[in-house]
Amino acid sequence: MTMIPSLLDKNSWNKEDLITLLKAEGPEMEMMLQRSAQTRERYIGNKIYLRGLLEISNICSKNCYYCGIRYENRKIRRYKMTLEEVEKAVRFAYEQGFGSVVFQSGEIEAQPFTEFVTRAIAKTKDISGGRLGITLSCGEQSDSVYRQWKEAGAHRYLLRIEASDPDLFKKLHPTDDKHNLHRRMEALRGLQRMGYQTGTGVMIGLPFQTLEHLANDLLFMREFDIDMVGMGPYVMHRDTPLFEHRHEVPLLKDRISLSLKMIAILRLMMKDVNIASTTALSAIDPMGKIMGMKAGANVIMPNITPAKFIGNYNLYDNKPYVDLYSNASRLTMEKEIENQGFKIGFDEWGDSVHYRQRTGS
Ligand code: 5AD
Ligand code: SF4
Repeated sequence: MTMIPSLLDKNSWNKEDLITLLKAEGPEMEMMLQRSAQTRERYIGNKIYLRGLLEISNICSKNCYYCGIRYENRKIRRYKMTLEEVEKAVRFAYEQGFGSVVFQSGEIEAQPFTEFVTRAIAKTKDISGGRLGITLSCGEQSDSVYRQWKEAGAHRYLLRIEASDPDLFKKLHPTDDKHNLHRRMEALRGLQRMGYQTGTGVMIGLPFQTLEHLANDLLFMREFDIDMVGMGPYVMHRDTPLFEHRHEVPLLKDRISLSLKMIAILRLMMKDVNIASTTALSAIDPMGKIMGMKAGANVIMPNITPAKFIGNYNLYDNKPYVDLYSNASRLTMEKEIENQGFKIGFDEWGDSVHYRQRTGS
């Protein structure tokens, strides 16, 4: 036996402890996942919250080396949904009892886009009589834009830091003003200060990434006192610069187990945060999302983007697509979750308990 069982009995972990935990394998890894599931059950219960994910636009001004919708990828058709299309999808999410929607997009800072998101938020409030929760994931914006969206009714924001280590961040992004880790952290801090439930996350199993980087990512999330986390495996995309380094990427099975361990350890460290089981997990294993939930995640983001846009929002290759507008596949998804002993939080916002504790709200 290694040190894992005794480490699991601790309540606070330093970087070395986290690296050891990230190395857990076989029965010890199982023990860790179980401990995480117990922690989730005890602190936030067994509910899984649904957020209907709407990819409202794939227009992006950035050039992240790993991402399929980066500015320089000319192979995809750029789109922005119309307000009517957003309205239709939001109505659908509401009728299905999804509880919340997430508006996600590429990153652009432009007045018409700001206005479009503001109107989409207002429309969502309107359609649902204020009952649908609204999360945004529209990248780095100025504080005044964040404020405008908050005033319109958004209350959660996801801004992944992608990699909290400055050197690793530089290997994944061009070195210019648009891709600046410090600026990204400041944006995240701005969101938190403004009163958003604030979410971040990283990719797992990137070329050049070490266990020490991942341990530091976990410490970053704790130090930042983050409310929500979405993290999942890096998945290659053939039309991106990082594809050149495909031979330096861990095996699929290792990326999955590393992602599950990251979720489990984060759950042990930050017991009452919301953790999403991400789509990228399902991209490399059909059971990925379920495994993420069993490892401690309590949120999923079923994709409700209209079918005609889906192929143009491939952040990575083999992005899975389940047509949730079909009753049969939606019920299958719900059954799969319930068969694992979880309850779906229909019609609930499923706010981060951590946020409530942190802000006393
Ligand atoms: N693999 C996995 N996740 C990716 N993202 C972008 N490209 C990839 C990829 N190739 C993630 C980033 C971004 C989120 C919207 O999608 O973390 O923040
Ligand atoms: Fe744009 Fe986000 Fe992709 Fe970077 S990760 S290229 S900011 S959509």
